Amino acid sequence: MAMAGDVKKRIERLRREIRRHDHLYYVLSAPEIDDRQYDALFAELKDLEAAHPELVTADSPTQRVSGRPLDVFSTVRHAVPMLSIDNTYSAEELRAFDERVRRQLDTPEYDYVVELKIDGLAVSLRYEHGRLVSGATRGDGEVGDDVTANIRTIKAIPLSLLDGDAVPAVLEVRGEVYMPTRSFVELNRMRTEAGESPFANPRNAAAGSLKLLDARITATRNLAFFAYATGEVSQPLARDHYRMLERLRAMGLPVNPHIQRAKNIDEVIEICLAWGPKRFELDYQTDGMVVKINRCDQRDILGATGRAPRWCIAYKFPAERAETVVESIAVQVGKSGALTPVANLAPVSLSGTTVKRASLHNFDEMRRLDVRVGDTVVIEKAGEIIPQVVEVKTERRPPGTKPFEVPKKCPVCDSEVVKDETGVCVRCPNPQCSGQLKERLRYFAGRGQMDIERLGASLIEQLVDRGLVQGFADLYRLRKEDLAALERMGEKSAQNVLDGIEDSKTRPLWRFLAALGIRHVGGQSAQVLAEHFGSLAALREASREELEAIDQIGPVMAESIYGYFREPRHRAVVDDLLAAGVQPQTEAARSRAGAFSDKTVVVTGSLENFTRQQAQQAIKDAGGKASSSVSKKTDFVVAGAEPGSKLDKARELGVTVIDERQFMEMLSGRAN
Ligand code: IVH
Repeated sequence: MAMAGDVKKRIERLRREIRRHDHLYYVLSAPEIDDRQYDALFAELKDLEAAHPELVTADSPTQRVSGRPLDVFSTVRHAVPMLSIDNTYSAEELRAFDERVRRQLDTPEYDYVVELKIDGLAVSLRYEHGRLVSGATRGDGEVGDDVTANIRTIKAIPLSLLDGDAVPAVLEVRGEVYMPTRSFVELNRMRTEAGESPFANPRNAAAGSLKLLDARITATRNLAFFAYATGEVSQPLARDHYRMLERLRAMGLPVNPHIQRAKNIDEVIEICLAWGPKRFELDYQTDGMVVKINRCDQRDILGATGRAPRWCIAYKFPAERAETVVESIAVQVGKSGALTPVANLAPVSLSGTTVKRASLHNFDEMRRLDVRVGDTVVIEKAGEIIPQVVEVKTERRPPGTKPFEVPKKCPVCDSEVVKDETGVCVRCPNPQCSGQLKERLRYFAGRGQMDIERLGASLIEQLVDRGLVQGFADLYRLRKEDLAALERMGEKSAQNVLDGIEDSKTRPLWRFLAALGIRHVGGQSAQVLAEHFGSLAALREASREELEAIDQIGPVMAESIYGYFREPRHRAVVDDLLAAGVQPQTEAARSRAGAFSDKTVVVTGSLENFTRQQAQQAIKDAGGKASSSVSKKTDFVVAGAEPGSKLDKARELGVTVIDERQFMEMLSGRAN
């Protein structure tokens, strides 16, 4: 039994390590360890804290998500108001701004900092003695909402600042909470799939997520943050903005890496114009650039109007919209039968890509816009990613068009459609519908799920159309000759496809769960479930209450999971997959597999918890090779009591020697 002091030290060390890895991953995008190793650290900390609740502190990485939803947000008055920024739309306007600055400063000796204008929502984070004490939205600039519980769930925001840099007693950090584009697309996909209305763009999604009363939901939304200013500070951080940002970065706060200094307005303009097309390469949305005077004393001279500072100006990129004509309207069947209207467009170039199709989301939205075949429409990329129709030029509508009728039958299998509970969504109720099956298979094989290489949409199409695959498990029963008979498929590629499928048999449990396509369950919730239950068997038998009690699993999701596993048809799908040889890997099995995989291990002396045979079996189960003699090729020697000459030999050859406790830790995946 470890001493209390040891436990405390271990807990502190784990917290430091986890914070460091959070920083490496979420702020610097340069992780040093993989998810499995991270999870092991986190699990150890959680276990220790559960056993020693008196040692839990508010800034522990385990305490990001609070338990209970709020009834209402309280409000916070900002000590330093959160101002807005004036906009410009052209190089000329930027020059005019520069001239005003020069006149007021009465010197040409000033420089600029040019930043991306992150399209999210402004927040103010208050750190006292390096600890995050509150987080608030901008609100009207004077008074905002206290969203501390939600802010704490954002992993890029440190709960305590790194101490390397002297942190002022009071430090208010201002910046933008945003949703990375990829997370936005994934969230909307899930929402549409679940019959909920999608967010119009990542900014709305970020704002909606930050203003939820239940922080457990916010925690699933993958929000991120960039710091770009300070509010109240007990001691100024630097004499200029650029160095101030460097100090924030040194404290562990995420600061955007693309911030540039510019000597004069020509350089500013050059930077702004260059980012116009380049911004589409980023994984977050920017709607322009922010141009700031660098020196703090010069900012003071310039001051502010009531609304915005005079030392700062935004340059807004031109809106990315285009006009085109609707050539036809198609209806797609989703993986759970939802029918979605899609507009096929005359190809048009928009934000760097050629757009030929645009989602109309659902039939309600389509009726609202009254989109008809032949219409001239304005399209926009929602968050510059998914093109959507935002406006119909009714004045240019050709004569004789008719409103698009909501289909009464599934376009693929001809079944009578049903209206979803929400009334917005129209569904094909036929579980055998081949349109649905194709979508389910595509999702199953997709990168976020079973990740089956080379099993793309066109191959799935053929496999279903030829009746070779009628369910997930059929994939695992495909034979080479089945595949080789398909279009554009030689022996070699058939084998590659089979290898990819075979490979997917041992994916982690969470991927398997995500791949089943249970409504409301995406990759993140699947990870939560896999971690909580540890095995498919346990999850299958979980009660509603048990599911609801899990942090981050809301009642709707709990019901959906519970319902899924009560349905004989779904249980058969899962059983069939297991029978076909799919073996979802649980965390424990995976980490064990990692511990000794491809390692040669020799056991010497007697162990307390294993017979020699059991120890050898454990090594094999963990992917290693148990050997009886020590050589240069030996990776580990496990030394028990009275180890004898093998231990001497190991020392002589410089082979790593571990004791029984370390051996057990490695087997349980807890070693670090
Ligand atoms: S500085 C008074 N820097 O843009 C200046 N703001 O349109 C303080 N924003 O409310 C803000 N990126 O939410 C600054 N790099 C950046 C920014 C930025 C986005 C937002 C911020 C502000 C809004 C004004």
